[in-house]
Amino acid sequence: MNAKSRFRKVLLFSRIDSFVTCGPVRTVRDTDEPGIRQFRVEAIPCYNLVLNLIIIFESKNLADMEKFFVTGHRGLVGSAVVRRLAAEPVETLVATRDEVDLRDGMLVEKFFDDAHPDFVIHVAGTVGGIHANQSRPVDFLYDNSLLHLTVLRAAWLFETKKLLYLGSSCIYPRDCPQPIKEEYLMTGPLERTNDAYAIAKISGLMACQAYRRQYGCNFISGMPTNLYGPNDNFDLQTSHVLPALIRKFHEAKLNGDSSVTVWGTGQPRREFLHVDDLADACLFLLENYDESETINIGTGQDVQISELADIIRTVVYPEAKIKFDSSKPDGTPRKLLDVSKLHSLGWQHQIELHDGIARTYDWFLRSLEQQQVRLQAGVENRT
Ligand SMILES: NC(=O)c1ccc[n+]([C@@H]2O[C@H](COP(=O)([O-])OP(=O)(O)OC[C@H]3O[C@@H](n4cnc5c(N)ncnc54)[C@H](OP(=O)(O)O)[C@@H]3O)[C@@H](O)[C@H]2O)c1
Repeated sequence: MNAKSRFRKVLLFSRIDSFVTCGPVRTVRDTDEPGIRQFRVEAIPCYNLVLNLIIIFESKNLADMEKFFVTGHRGLVGSAVVRRLAAEPVETLVATRDEVDLRDGMLVEKFFDDAHPDFVIHVAGTVGGIHANQSRPVDFLYDNSLLHLTVLRAAWLFETKKLLYLGSSCIYPRDCPQPIKEEYLMTGPLERTNDAYAIAKISGLMACQAYRRQYGCNFISGMPTNLYGPNDNFDLQTSHVLPALIRKFHEAKLNGDSSVTVWGTGQPRREFLHVDDLADACLFLLENYDESETINIGTGQDVQISELADIIRTVVYPEAKIKFDSSKPDGTPRKLLDVSKLHSLGWQHQIELHDGIARTYDWFLRSLEQQQVRLQAGVENRT
C-alpha cells in the first residue's frame, strides 16, 4: 500500500471513530524517532468515555504526501479550506498569527524553509465591511499589500508547486457592466468606500501574474463573491451584511424587539456563496486551472438586500418586521459575477442561500454556547 492510500485509511478510520464518539480528530506530529510520524486521533466520546487512539506507523513513504499550507486558517475562508482538505489524503500546514505574522517576510521565509509546502492556498487578509474599510483604509492597504508580497516571494524562493491567491468581487470597478466578467478588472474607477483594500488586492493579483511572467511560477488567482458561513465575523463594527443581519435578528429575538433595522434602502443586489462551496472551488481550481487570468468564483445568482433580510428573518426570527434606514449608504448598486468560465470548467455551487443561512445560524447558536463566535473581532484586536 502506498503512503497516500495508507493515510486515506487512517483518515477513514478516524472519521468513523470520531463519528461514533462525536469527537474531533487531531493530526500529525513528528516524533523523536527518525522516520516515525505520529497520527493522534483524539476523541470526545459519547457516554462520558474518553478514547485516545494513537496510531504510529513508519513514515518513510509519507515524504511523498503533498503538503498544503493554508494561510488565515482561523478565519472564515481558511477554516473552510482546512475542513475541505481534511477529506483529502494530504498534509495540511497552518500557522497562527502569533507563530508567523505573515507581514514579516523573514518569518514567512523561515516557515517555508522549514515546512516546504507543495501547495499554498493564500487566504489570510485584513477583511471587513463598509464601516471598517471607510474608517481604517491604511490598515487595509498596508496589511493586504504585505500579506501577498511576503507569501508569494517565499513560495517562489522555496519552489512551491502551485499557489492560489484570492482576490474579491468588490475590487472590480464600481460601475462595471453586470454580470461582471473577469476582463472588467481595472477598466474603471473603484468603489470609493473600499478603494484602499481594492488597490492592495489588485496588486496581489498582479503579483501572481508577475511571478508567472518573470519566474514561471504556477501562481493562480480566484475572485470570490460575498462569502458567508461558519467562523464568519459577527462584530457589527467590522462585519459584512449577511453575518451582521444574522446577529441583528438574533439579538432582536432575545430582546423581544418587534422590528429590525437594515442599513440602506434594501434595493442593492448582491450575490452570496457559502464558504464550504468556496473551499471546494479552491481545490477544484488547484487541480484544474493553470491560467494567468483570474477566475470568478460565485453562484451566478443575486438577491436584493431586502430579499436577503427576509430570508434571514424567516430563519432567525419570523415574527420580526423589517425597517430600512435609507440615511445609511447602499454601496455599489449591483454586484453579480459572471461565472461562465468556472462553470465551463465543470464546477458549480451546491449550497443554496436559504439552506446555507440556516446552517450558518445553527453554527452560530452552537458556537455562541461555546463562546467561539467573533462578536467583537475588530481587526485591530487581531493584529
Ligand atoms: N469574507 C468575504 O466575504 C470575502 C469575499 C471575497 C474574498 N474574500 C477574501 O478571502 C480571504 C479571507 O477572508 P476571510 O473572510 O476568511 O477573512 P477573516 O475571517 O477575517 O480571516 C482572515 C484570516 O487571516 C489571518 N491574518 C490576517 N492578517 C494576518 C497576519 N498578519 N498574519 C497571519 N495571519 C493573518 C487572520 O488571522 P487571525 O485569526 O489571527 O485574526 C484570519 O485567520 C481574504 O483574502 C479576502 O480578501 C473574502
